[in-house]
Amino acid sequence: MVNIQWYPGHMAKAKRQVQEKLKQVDAVFEIVDARVPLSSRNPMLDEVTKQKPRLIILNKADLAEPNKTKQWIKYYQQQGYAAVAIDAQHHANLPQIAKQARILLADKIAKQQAKGIKQPTVKAMCIGIPNVGKSTVLNRLMHKNIAITGNKPGVTKNQQWLKTKDGLALLDTPGILWPKFEDPEVGLKLSLTGAISDAVYHEDDVALFLLTFAHQFYPTALNKFYHLTDEDFNQSMGDLLLQMTKHAGMKDDYDRFARKMILDYRKGLLGKITLDLVPQQVDDDNE
Ligand code: G4P
Repeated sequence: MVNIQWYPGHMAKAKRQVQEKLKQVDAVFEIVDARVPLSSRNPMLDEVTKQKPRLIILNKADLAEPNKTKQWIKYYQQQGYAAVAIDAQHHANLPQIAKQARILLADKIAKQQAKGIKQPTVKAMCIGIPNVGKSTVLNRLMHKNIAITGNKPGVTKNQQWLKTKDGLALLDTPGILWPKFEDPEVGLKLSLTGAISDAVYHEDDVALFLLTFAHQFYPTALNKFYHLTDEDFNQSMGDLLLQMTKHAGMKDDYDRFARKMILDYRKGLLGKITLDLVPQQVDDDNE
């Protein structure tokens, strides 16, 4: 069993603060990692904020498989959410956030306009587990680097409204909001994307998970980058990892190669690999 310190005190505090601030907003912007659009959601936050209209922002879309991202958006729309894919790092698709938020809140905006408010501000709370790129998204929307609420334990700054040029007023969420997961595969995915500390899982377990997953769902990606042939996969994944370690000139330093492989994935060098499988009903709709 993996030993993870969840800081339950901070979690409870964060939950309370989110509940208090929720009264002040029209919507919740939930930022997820497009490579793990489901695993990077925090079920506690989901529960606490469920009465508010929600825009799910699939960030880091540059690293995810575009067709899978489309299917995930469709899936979330079918669940009654608004959803949009962006790449905050490279400024891609950011105007869609305000646009989709206005569509999501069309009724409320129409009522405000009927009362004479020409351009009603959309007030939203931004939530997201560490490393999904929440700070980057907020910085991009503000067109400057702002002091973002810390993800580190105990770092909770006073909440401030962040007003964007396109009529959004955003509240960042405080504290650490790690996802709590029962499924170890979710943990491995979050480790691979860098959402949870590298100390939680052994790097060889994470690398073996990646090897197995990629071989099954994205076989050509690994073959090309690591010069593998289909025959190389006719051995155990552990033996293959050793073979790859040797080929990389790292002798038997299995852990070092595993770390390199994880970084290769995080940098997108293995291609665009989405780790969360899209639920079946969306696949069926596309047939
Ligand atoms: P957080 O507030 O949710 O914890 O995340 P933060 O914005 O700090 O972003 C975490 C990492 O993800 C950063 O990289 C950031 O540059 C990267 N990132 C954010 N958005 C995107 C995106 O849309 N695409 C890609 N490819 N990366 C993104 P880092 O390596 O931790 O730091 P650095 O690269 O800024 O040095």
